Amino acid sequence: MTYIAIFASGTGTNALRLMEHFAAHPDIRVGVLVSNKPGAGALHHADDMGVPTLVIDRKSFYESESLLTDLDLYHVRFIVLAGFLWLVPPYLIRAYPNRIVNIHPALLPRHGGKGMYGMRVHQAVRDAGDPETGISIHYVNERYDDGAIIFQTSCPVGPSDTPDDIARRVQALEHRHYPEVVEQLIAQQPV
Ligand code: GAR
Repeated sequence: MTYIAIFASGTGTNALRLMEHFAAHPDIRVGVLVSNKPGAGALHHADDMGVPTLVIDRKSFYESESLLTDLDLYHVRFIVLAGFLWLVPPYLIRAYPNRIVNIHPALLPRHGGKGMYGMRVHQAVRDAGDPETGISIHYVNERYDDGAIIFQTSCPVGPSDTPDDIARRVQALEHRHYPEVVEQLIAQQPV
């Protein structure tokens, strides 16, 4: 069995889809859901799914490497960011080389970087008049939304679409593709 950790700061709709997808998987399980935000919806979803949770604080996340011990405890081999808004520190990237992925709700390199998350991204797409947007799944490096892209798919943006309309379309793409892409990546990992 390969155990993964999901890191999530927010509502956790992607985290929920991932936990549901892997709940009955023969080889892959979500071992722990990590959040930097006490009370985050993602933590409630994990409780409902019977997935252990861990709440981290900024100081220990950036000034110690104690998280590595916790992740070892849950036998975590792969990390999936699902709306996790803190920059991942170098020690974590070194410990999980090419084993940390993120999803971004736009076609990177457009509309990524620090502060670009959630509705801000869809508002930026609207303001730029982009005719299309989409999702990007990428490896995580030491900069926001910057690592090598693994998968992208797009959807059209109409002239009368609001940021809410765009968000709904993009979220549907995220829910459809993220679990499957993660599953394929893990299947390709060396044992
Ligand atoms: C998702 O749309 C994800 O792409 C985005 O946060 C949302 C989390 O939603 N991540 C970023 O913007 C990263 N830069 P969720 O909590 O409902 O899964």
